[in-house]
Amino acid sequence: MKRANLFLLIALICVSGSLYAQNRTVIKVATDNVNLIYQVGENGRLYQSYLGQKLRYDADIANLPLGKEAYLTHGMEDYFEPAIRVLHNDGNPSLLLKYVSHTQDATKPNVTETVITLKDDKYPVTVKLFFTAFAKENIIKQHTEISHQEKKPVTLYNYASSLLHLNAGKYFLTDFTGEWAHEVNMAEHELDFGKRMVDTKLGSRANMQASPFFMVALNDKAQENAGDVLLGTINWTGNFRFTFEVDQLNQLRIHSGINPYGSEYSLQPNEVFLTPEFVFTYSTEGTGKASRDFHRWALAYQLKDGDKPRMTLLNNWEATYFDFDEEKLIGIMDEAVNLGVDMFLLDDGWFANKYPRSSDRQGLGDWQETVGKLPNGLGRLVKEATAKGIKFGVWIEPEMVNPKSELYENHKDWVIHLPNRDEYYFRNQMVLDLSNPKVQDYVFGVVDDLMTKYPGIAYFKWDCNSPITNIYSPYLKDKQSHLYIEHVRGLYNVLERVKAKYPDLPMMLCSGGGGRSDYKALEYFTEFWPSDNTDGVERIFIQWGYSHFFPSKAMAAHVTSWGKQPVKFRTDVASMCKLGFDIRIHEMTEPEQQYCKGVVKNFKRLQPVILEGDLYRLVSPYQTDHASQMYVSEAKDKAVLYAFDIHPRYSEITQPVRLQGLDPEAQYTIEEINLIPGTRPMRFSGKTYSGDYLMKVGLPLLSSRHLTSHVFEINKVK
Ligand code: GLA
Repeated sequence: MKRANLFLLIALICVSGSLYAQNRTVIKVATDNVNLIYQVGENGRLYQSYLGQKLRYDADIANLPLGKEAYLTHGMEDYFEPAIRVLHNDGNPSLLLKYVSHTQDATKPNVTETVITLKDDKYPVTVKLFFTAFAKENIIKQHTEISHQEKKPVTLYNYASSLLHLNAGKYFLTDFTGEWAHEVNMAEHELDFGKRMVDTKLGSRANMQASPFFMVALNDKAQENAGDVLLGTINWTGNFRFTFEVDQLNQLRIHSGINPYGSEYSLQPNEVFLTPEFVFTYSTEGTGKASRDFHRWALAYQLKDGDKPRMTLLNNWEATYFDFDEEKLIGIMDEAVNLGVDMFLLDDGWFANKYPRSSDRQGLGDWQETVGKLPNGLGRLVKEATAKGIKFGVWIEPEMVNPKSELYENHKDWVIHLPNRDEYYFRNQMVLDLSNPKVQDYVFGVVDDLMTKYPGIAYFKWDCNSPITNIYSPYLKDKQSHLYIEHVRGLYNVLERVKAKYPDLPMMLCSGGGGRSDYKALEYFTEFWPSDNTDGVERIFIQWGYSHFFPSKAMAAHVTSWGKQPVKFRTDVASMCKLGFDIRIHEMTEPEQQYCKGVVKNFKRLQPVILEGDLYRLVSPYQTDHASQMYVSEAKDKAVLYAFDIHPRYSEITQPVRLQGLDPEAQYTIEEINLIPGTRPMRFSGKTYSGDYLMKVGLPLLSSRHLTSHVFEINKVK
């Protein structure tokens, strides 16, 4: 028998034997460190008995209280927010779900899928709860399938992807909110009786104000290296909602899913309503461990091309905005070559002829090159880039339209807008109606036509600058409450087609900065643009926030002229993620240019550690006037360490920073890299220390000088 088959057989044997406690059916969803345990009560209903650190002995499950109903329904004896609320076609608004069966299969090494089937005993409604457990990474994914065989449609009002129950003395919710250029501000709130929601109703550019992820720390505020904390995110590129509700017994329920606001769904007989996946981890060693688990899972299972390297690039957006022509761009390509980056990325402003895209007021939707600017089309640019030995990438925003465009003039019925009201524009544009399959074809065609005409295009930056306004779909007619959902499904149809036809095409997910940053979209995109704000100090905070969920490989970070900090500071910040430049290189001093070339070289050499290593957040910019973090290779033989002094007080006394994640038994050399030519490294650069010393005593990385930065390469002595 082949090894893989043998493994599957053993795995099936291991998981197929159901557990029983006190004659109750027990269903255990387990990772290496986490258990989520369900039991079936004597009344036949399903209860969540446990969520937390893995229990050592199955026999102890019998001692667990039955717990709270797993997927609470509306209309029965519970007084709080239900996970599901339906209206049957006879007018009855209730649902009572009973356990029918469950299966558990090891679908591949490290991955176990559990499916629990529940049914109403009076109405032919089925709810299936799905759980995928990733053992090593301690990640559990959940989603729900709802279907029925009633004669007429059933209306769904609530349809959570996940309901989790927690029981602790105190709960501290961290959310990540903000707005354009001010994304993912971390704020911690103690939860007490009642509900707190984090949600969005923007339709597209859906998380401009609130990010689709959160942390809940139990008993104490979240800590980096200690304490129980749950980190969760929803894989949905549209309206989402997390509801945190503390009841009269101080027990917490967390509902996660699509935001049901304005989205009651008429479910046809036998249609399966699939909720998006909710992904979470539970750490008993603080947020640091939880983030590292998320990163490892993302690189191995979720992020597109998580196992492949990334290209460094030079983008022309902030260097030119809309003001460029062929020669100017070719000149910038030379700067890219000189800098040593892999790619030139052409941003907005290259398309439309009737209403040329000379500003963001017009042209969106007309994806033909502006003849006045690019008389030889993108073809010439692809050719020039190729001749210069670099790749060519290009910006598109295919889901959107300016009213001043030929697309709008010819296909107003493709645009989301209320037929009888004034139009409202966000950044002078409107959203195309992706619930319409014809519009899906058109949007797919934007990529497909460009790729067919110019197969040399090596990268797309896919933007999405407007939320949905004037919400009405000319296509959906009397099913307007399906629009928010169908729009996102339509987007996924398009992205599936792009991925199927161009599986190796890397793409950046951008949404007026960080308006889209969810793990479902990252199945199709190799990275996202965390913010239009590229000020070095702001980016420290922004990258810090996102790093709780996303590996650095997923975050594009460009050096621009936005911040007024030294070039070194801004570049060192960007070099913690997927490095790029968007700046007039020739306007830098000679030493700065030399320094930037050195950073690119170092980044290319160290990218396996920076983009795939384990992240240790050492000094928080939220708690100090400094920041420090490091990446450590899985083998613990290489690390890259960053330290920043932001705006310390005059003469502030700083303490050494203790490193983390190293092998205490090993010896390591420390070398400061990314130095401006002519500047001296820190005095401990070049020395050797034991991992034990570095983690117990630490290094004097910080100072009271404003806006300074240091980067160190750490190598295990062989
Ligand atoms: C958005 C993006 C920017 C840039 C502009 C172009 O704002 O976030 O990076 O591409 O669009 O219009």
